[in-house]
Amino acid sequence: MSTDIRPLPLPGIPLPELPLTPQSLTELESLGVSPAGGIVPDPGWWRTAVIYQVFIRSFADGNGDGVGDVAGLRARLPYLAALGVDAIWINPWYPSPMVDMGYDVSDYRDVDPELGTLAEAEDLIEAAHALGMRVLLDIVPNHTSDNHAWFRAALDGDAEARARYLFRPGRGLDGELPPNDWESCFRGPAWTRTTDPDGTPGEWYLHMFAPEQPDLDWSSPEVRAEFVDVLHFWFDRGIDGFRVDVAHGLAKAVGLPDGLGRDRRTEEHPGWDQDSVHEIYREWRQVADAYDPPRVFVAEAWVARPERLPLYLRPDELHTAFEFEPLHVTFRAGPWRRVIDQGLAKAEVANAPSAWALTNHDVVRQVTRYGREQPELRASNEQQRARFGVDPVDYELGRWRARAAVVMTMALPGAAYVYFGEELGLPEVESLTSAERRDPIHTRSGHTDPGRDGSRIPLPWSGNESPYGFSGSVDVRPWLPPPSDWAGLSVEAQEQDPASTLWHYRRLLAARRDLISEAEPLVWLESAPDVLAFSRGRLQCWVNFGPNPVGLPASLQVAASSRPEVTTMLPPDTAVWLVPSD
Ligand code: NOJ
Ligand code: CA
Repeated sequence: MSTDIRPLPLPGIPLPELPLTPQSLTELESLGVSPAGGIVPDPGWWRTAVIYQVFIRSFADGNGDGVGDVAGLRARLPYLAALGVDAIWINPWYPSPMVDMGYDVSDYRDVDPELGTLAEAEDLIEAAHALGMRVLLDIVPNHTSDNHAWFRAALDGDAEARARYLFRPGRGLDGELPPNDWESCFRGPAWTRTTDPDGTPGEWYLHMFAPEQPDLDWSSPEVRAEFVDVLHFWFDRGIDGFRVDVAHGLAKAVGLPDGLGRDRRTEEHPGWDQDSVHEIYREWRQVADAYDPPRVFVAEAWVARPERLPLYLRPDELHTAFEFEPLHVTFRAGPWRRVIDQGLAKAEVANAPSAWALTNHDVVRQVTRYGREQPELRASNEQQRARFGVDPVDYELGRWRARAAVVMTMALPGAAYVYFGEELGLPEVESLTSAERRDPIHTRSGHTDPGRDGSRIPLPWSGNESPYGFSGSVDVRPWLPPPSDWAGLSVEAQEQDPASTLWHYRRLLAARRDLISEAEPLVWLESAPDVLAFSRGRLQCWVNFGPNPVGLPASLQVAASSRPEVTTMLPPDTAVWLVPSD
């Protein structure tokens, strides 16, 4: 084995002089990691972009009330520019009772007062653009909040308002049974019975999620027109696109027939993925294309049959869609190889790039998943959460594996998403008490499912005491309390340590900018059974999932690696990028 593999000088980032999070454009420019001169025009930016998902309630609290907000995000934009992301996707920031943390929208054309103002939102979009980062918002078209003016009017008996939702008479002698057998994704029946203004039991309405999230009737022309207008509202304010929540949900089968016990996740179901949904996206695409530059859509579309996903990505529909398998696939070579092959095959059929994400606000964070799993397990999100408190977690192992996994996904063709806090190697917080949990899944499951709060804990910025600079003062208790042992994970702590996960992400994203381009297709290389190796042009990516170190090819040098010490041998649970050494 040749000893020809040397770590490259780290691209673009001066080490070991470690600047703290830059506070100004000049400081950013001195880091050499951001264009800092505004957006570089590129209509295809979304094909290869790295997009940072901002769970806004938990990113940074600008006014010290314990809830993350627009002002906090605005102040921390330089941190994101220095991280090296191309865009941010902000989870819903609209006025909302926050039953489902903003996915219950009561007004699509404003910002929730707890999170900021519309003027602040406009300023944020401008500031992000000045730093070279594009902005995606989250649009929630499947359902509104029960507090939306339309739904309140509907409950008051306004016939026009009722026609925008799915109200139906119940079954049974007195209408006491739900209109069909559909189940809510948040447990229990997908129907709730209303009470008429005179106090007698009335019709039922459909909600695929919580009862506070009534589903809209997308066969209503008014609903369609309303959302076209909402798209314009935000596009006119300069946003670059939308992540489309539950994109496969809007259209329902005519007559709302029973699902007859079919599992929506694996079988066709009349409540999901109906052909008529595509008319909606064809109309939306025309809206997006009429802007200069054209705006883009990324779909959250869970389809029971993978071959139906490309239908959403036809040239006159949505631009790209998330890959969901990486959110729960086990840290093993074989399963990952299948996930990547399937993702690439779909992308080829659709002629649309994949959108890769290792985690998001709906699933258990990857450090915990990889630190806990038994090798034979491929667990759904619910199964992952169910193991909380049952199996111990090896956090160190989980963190090394998470660092390796992102080296791999950042080398794949397509766009890549980073969920806030994954750049710090945050684990799932499983120590929340039942009373502290806010996710409706927790309550609706009769407290048996811990829900998703553990992945939404406020980001630790600095200091030794919770909430670690999130809210300015340690006297503030944020809406979800960060645990007492997170001081070492804070941005401040990790900036002092060149071996930290934060610096790992910064180096990796800088290397990606230098090395990855869409033009280079993925080619699998021969490797040992526990190893995945592929090339993309002159770049090679090697990932060791097995228990033994493996030799790396001679005459290549390390351009990025998940552990600092990699040279000629690739340790277990480690990944590298290699390039020719000339
Ligand atoms: C998907 C979102 O990611 C999730 O957080 C939300 O609860 C549901 N859609 C319902 O809007
Ligand atoms: Ca706040």
